[in-house]
Amino acid sequence: MRHTTSALSIKLFVSPLGVPGTYASDHSVMCHAVHAHNMRAVKLGATFLETQAIITAFASPALKNAGITLDFLELGHEADFYNANGDRASNYSVSQYTAEWITFATNMTRTAHLAGSNTRFWGGAFALSSHSSTGFSPQGIFANNILSSEPGGFITTISQHHYSGSFCSGDGGLLQDLMTKATIRSNLSSFTPDIQATQDRNLDYVFGETNSYACHGAPGVSNTAGAALWTLDYALFASQLGISKVFFHEGIGYKYNLIQPAVLTRSILDGSPLATPQQPHVQPTYYAAIIAAEAIGDSGRTQAVELSISNTRISGYAFYEGGALKRAVFINSLAFLAGATNRTSTHLDLTFSGSGTKPKSFSVKRLVIGHADDTSGLTWGGQTYETVDARVGGTLSSETGTVAGGIDIPATQAIMISF
Ligand SMILES: *[C@@H]1O[C@H](CO)[C@@H](O)[C@H](O)[C@H]1NC(C)=O
Ligand SMILES: *[C@@H]1O[C@H](CO)[C@@H](O)[C@H](O)[C@H]1NC(C)=O
Ligand SMILES: *[C@@H]1O[C@H](CO)[C@@H](O)[C@H](O)[C@H]1NC(C)=O
Ligand SMILES: *[C@@H]1O[C@H](CO)[C@@H](O)[C@H](O)[C@H]1NC(C)=O
Repeated sequence: MRHTTSALSIKLFVSPLGVPGTYASDHSVMCHAVHAHNMRAVKLGATFLETQAIITAFASPALKNAGITLDFLELGHEADFYNANGDRASNYSVSQYTAEWITFATNMTRTAHLAGSNTRFWGGAFALSSHSSTGFSPQGIFANNILSSEPGGFITTISQHHYSGSFCSGDGGLLQDLMTKATIRSNLSSFTPDIQATQDRNLDYVFGETNSYACHGAPGVSNTAGAALWTLDYALFASQLGISKVFFHEGIGYKYNLIQPAVLTRSILDGSPLATPQQPHVQPTYYAAIIAAEAIGDSGRTQAVELSISNTRISGYAFYEGGALKRAVFINSLAFLAGATNRTSTHLDLTFSGSGTKPKSFSVKRLVIGHADDTSGLTWGGQTYETVDARVGGTLSSETGTVAGGIDIPATQAIMISF
């Protein structure tokens, strides 16, 4: 194997300057639920009965005693696809949608007695966005006065759905495209006007449904180790734009799952019967969630800022607690695929600015990946989560580095350094 190394100088501020992403970690043991009710069939009676049923269920001792709360109701799933799906006329517009939403949601608001509860609405939930006030988008529903309606007063969050492409429409994409720093940034940055319009109205903006490629993932792409690097960069970059939560779409046997929660009897790749059923297990993208959780930590007030790195394959984020630099995550998104022989490595030279103590050394954890298209065998700090109960296994490997010496990051790897 041939190794080639190039060098990159990275500047970190020891105290945060204009930090966009703040993570309020949730320490409670409460379970939070969002109930989404479709509006494809225009049947108010069904909406009414479903609302009654869901409120009754969440008021039951079984759910209450388990600490499970119904935080949000959502009405209408990807309504911008209703006309294409044949559920509405081809000229179905955001103004018609908003009028329907207000009628149905008024009934839900009163049936669920929202005025006397903590349950609120998620608005939007569109598949795509026109980013304009005349089409399906947050701007479009705001322009049609959704917020001044009776139920609109209970919207606290705007939800957007997003995929980087669709496996069904044949644009499943190459693994390298998914991992690429620029495509992650252009996919997410297109929502900047929507986020701004939402925040201007003091509402929270979330990705209520997202993952790599629609139609439950692309085989050999969404289920791979390279997709773990995508998940990590995608979730962290989303925070930089003001997307406050990112909900990854999951289902039994979906290719893009972080975890496979049930025994599988069919292949996730092509649905063919498996000779031996697969026990519940984690997929490579699960490691991204572990790394994000460790980088954010449990301070409840960690701030993250993307580092300015002039390299098309390396992205990085600094994490601050109480105004002090604690950790940094770097991702090398150059896909090192099975069969390749020349795994490159990039040397990171770290320099520090700002007021406060400048670190001289650090500890390192690496997400070690054999090849970008591997579907198992990853390790994080030398440990695995590919165990029978998905609890961490193996011994934590300790690696330290010095600021004077810098650090190397091979192609298709993520590292976290802690100061
Ligand atoms: C909601 O709609 C149902 C079905 O039309 C109706 O029976 C019920 O009275 C409505 N509830 C409210 C509070 O408007
Ligand atoms: C949409 O098309 C229908 C006929 O399919 C027509 O009756 C209706 O007026 C149109 N609505 C608008 C808003 O153009
Ligand atoms: C989103 O990312 C995919 C690669 O996963 C790329 O093919 C597509 O062009 C990107 N879309 C935008 C709007 O950047
Ligand atoms: C391997 O080398 C080839 C030819 O120099 C280059 O195109 C490719 O990007 C390299 N791959 C990696 C993972 O460095």
